[in-house]
Amino acid sequence: MPVASQPPVAEAISRALATLDLDSVRATYWAQNEFIHLDRLFPETVVAPMVDEVERGRAGINRNYIPRHKKGGSVSYYTLREQAPAILTLYRSPAFLDFIRRVTGAPVERCPESDPHACALYYYTEPGDHIGFHYDTSYYKGTRYTVLLGLVERSSSRLVCQLHKDDPAREVRELALATEPGTLVLFHGDKLWHKITPLGENEERVSLTLEYVTDPGMTPVKRFVSNMKDAIAYFGFRSVFGRRGTRRLSDASPGIGAAGNARARRGD
Ligand SMILES: [Fe+2]
Repeated sequence: MPVASQPPVAEAISRALATLDLDSVRATYWAQNEFIHLDRLFPETVVAPMVDEVERGRAGINRNYIPRHKKGGSVSYYTLREQAPAILTLYRSPAFLDFIRRVTGAPVERCPESDPHACALYYYTEPGDHIGFHYDTSYYKGTRYTVLLGLVERSSSRLVCQLHKDDPAREVRELALATEPGTLVLFHGDKLWHKITPLGENEERVSLTLEYVTDPGMTPVKRFVSNMKDAIAYFGFRSVFGRRGTRRLSDASPGIGAAGNARARRGD
């Protein structure tokens, strides 16, 4: 049963966004090659119910390990839309969508309901959990934008960002950020080269990501690659292709094997 929105959370999201100097945010976003980091943007009234949903989501974590690239746990949109009303309130917030559009200048939409990545939680809970450098490659016809929201930060892990990596004319600028609860990061998926450094002993880090695209169309070949990436690197085959998912195994063609893994490493 899909969850209903939470009006107090929606109102607090709108209020937090209304406090921003949008011209300044937009200028910084563009000066940083379509990347911005807003420290503790959202208050406790927004973050606390989401942290409760992080706790509830633990039962549904899918752990995965791709040698030399990533190790960690994920909970997909399929699960969140059934049991995470505060998180879904943010993803479906008209005020938040308007904010993304105004900062990026792009006519973005939410991803299709069939995309398990549309809105997902990433759990770094075991020593060494990490993800290596990558772009958030778009498998859609349109441009992909990623929002990352910190929810639990009890770690020495850092979101390391290399700005201007895609521009040979510019010097790369590296940032190492702690994603504290309520801290928001927004970036163009093809422009930000980024990673999460390994978790230490007795540490924990949980973040939420939201995905937006300018055109949700996808070619059959890219749908196949995207499905396999999500199944192998994130949510598991049962979640992506099973009863709760809306994708079918027949969406994927045979022969993925190592090629799929290689491409998965380029993904999020
Ligand atoms: Fe990423």
